[in-house]
This record gives sequence, structure tokens and C-alpha cells, in this order.
Amino acid sequence: MYALIYRINVTSNIKKQFLHGLIPMCSNVFTIVLFIHLLLNVVMTDRDQSNKELVLYTQPSFLKVFSKDVRLFEVNGVTWKVKQDWNQLGVAGVIWESALILSRYLVDNNHLIKGRSVIELGAGTGLVGMVTATLGAESVAVTDKEMRMIQENLSLNRDHLNQSCITPLFYEWGSPLPLSSHIDVVLGSDIIYIEETYPLLIHTLNELCTSPDVLVLLSAQERYDKVKLFMKQLLQGGGFTSNVVGTEGTVRIFSIRKTL
Ligand SMILES: C[S@@+](CC[C@H](N)C(=O)[O-])C[C@H]1O[C@@H](n2cnc3c(N)ncnc32)[C@H](O)[C@@H]1O
Repeated sequence: MYALIYRINVTSNIKKQFLHGLIPMCSNVFTIVLFIHLLLNVVMTDRDQSNKELVLYTQPSFLKVFSKDVRLFEVNGVTWKVKQDWNQLGVAGVIWESALILSRYLVDNNHLIKGRSVIELGAGTGLVGMVTATLGAESVAVTDKEMRMIQENLSLNRDHLNQSCITPLFYEWGSPLPLSSHIDVVLGSDIIYIEETYPLLIHTLNELCTSPDVLVLLSAQERYDKVKLFMKQLLQGGGFTSNVVGTEGTVRIFSIRKTL
């Protein structure tokens, strides 16, 4: 019988016991023990519940770094200041791990950049483009459809930049190219993330890759199958080849070229 009572919702059970005048039964020692046990159960349950609520309010660590106004990164002997604005600009207003990994890859492989005309797509905060401009590039066009963070970071880091080498440009994938001059290298970090934009991005890569000499370097964070799907569409439809030239954690760097 007591086992049966225990299974009933503890709160309503206690109320029922009070309401139906069960207090006189407290002379029964066994009933008192059971009563205390049920009472403790209620208190413990309430405490567990409040712990769960506390967990919900804990800010995930990735949001903590996104909520910083300015982050500092040491790349190629320079301390870069990267301004962020997650609240106003969302994904375009913060720096992604892929950007840092691609920047460091370029420093280690600066022969790919030296003397080349470079365009960065979906530059966000602009770190990759700024680092590229210090690696002997002939020119760097830093593009995005959201330009505020790029403008602010170019200004914040102007002491490390040769202003005549780097140009911020509004550019939305799939639209006519923002410059008419020849491009040697196309860069993009963490730009493979919205499936609806894949055909537009592939269109832009087709426009930029006028020959197999044009090198495309994309760093991408593995999120579900999004990157795989993009590569499938790029290789099947666009006449491109792709190799993984770097891996760090869940970020990969793809070297892509047009086939003949
Ligand atoms: C995840 S963020 C990556 C930003 C930066 N490259 C980084 O790694 O820190 C993606 C960027 O792509 C840009 N983007 C998304 N769709 C775009 C489009 N259709 N045309 C141009 N830029 C786009 C966003 O504005 C954003 O800056």
C-alpha cells in the first residue's frame, strides 16, 4: 500500500493527506517516517528543478567570445584588433575560427599570395584580407554584402596596412563582379553555410576562375553535411577539382581549381 502511495504525485499526495485529516494517524510511527520521506522528496525535486533552470541561463562559451567588442589575434607578427558586433550584424559581425585558420595557413604558404591579385568573398570582419595584404599581395579586394565590420577593422588596423593594397568592396554572390581586373587568388572563410546561396557562390566562382591558374582557397567548418553538399554541387555542376590542403579540428581548407 505504501509503495502505491509513493508512486502518486508527491505534492498532491501530501495535500490530500492534510485535507483528509490524516494528521491523527501520525501516532503511527511508520506513517511519520513515510511523511518525512515524502516531504524531503518534494524539497529535493524543487532544488533539482531550480538547478535545471540555472543551466538554461548559462551563456554558451561560443556566445561569450562573440559578445566581445574587440578581440586580439597574433598573426604574422602583428597583433590584429578585430572589432565585433554580434547584436547588430549576427554572423557577419563576428570572427569565425575558419578565418583564423585560413589566415595562419596563408602566412605559412605566403608564396601563394606574393605578387598576386586577391579577392576575399564574405569577409565578415576582414581578418583574412588584412593578413593577406601583409604577405606581399599586389592587391586585395575585401568583399561582403555587409561592409560595416570590414570598414571599421580596416580603420582600426590601419597602422599595419598599406592602404593602396587593400580595397573594401560591397559584393553579393551571383551579382556582376565588383572589379574588372584579373584575379589570381580567391579566398573565403566560413562562407559555405546557407544552402540557398550555393548556386550563387558557384556562379561567382565560375566568373572568377577564368582558367585553371586561378586558385580558390576556402576554409570551412564541418557543420552537418553542408560542406559535403556544397562540394558535390561544385564538382558535379561547375567543372572544378578540389583537394583538402589543411585540417585543424573541424575546420578544413580546400584548394579548388577550374578543370580545363
Ligand atoms: C559565417 S560568416 C564568415 C565571416 C568571415 N569570413 C569569417 O570567417 O569570420 C559568413 C559571411 O558571408 C557573408 N555572406 C553571406 N551570404 C552572402 C552573399 N550572398 N553575398 C556576399 N556575402 C555573403 C556574410 O555577410 C558573412 O559576413
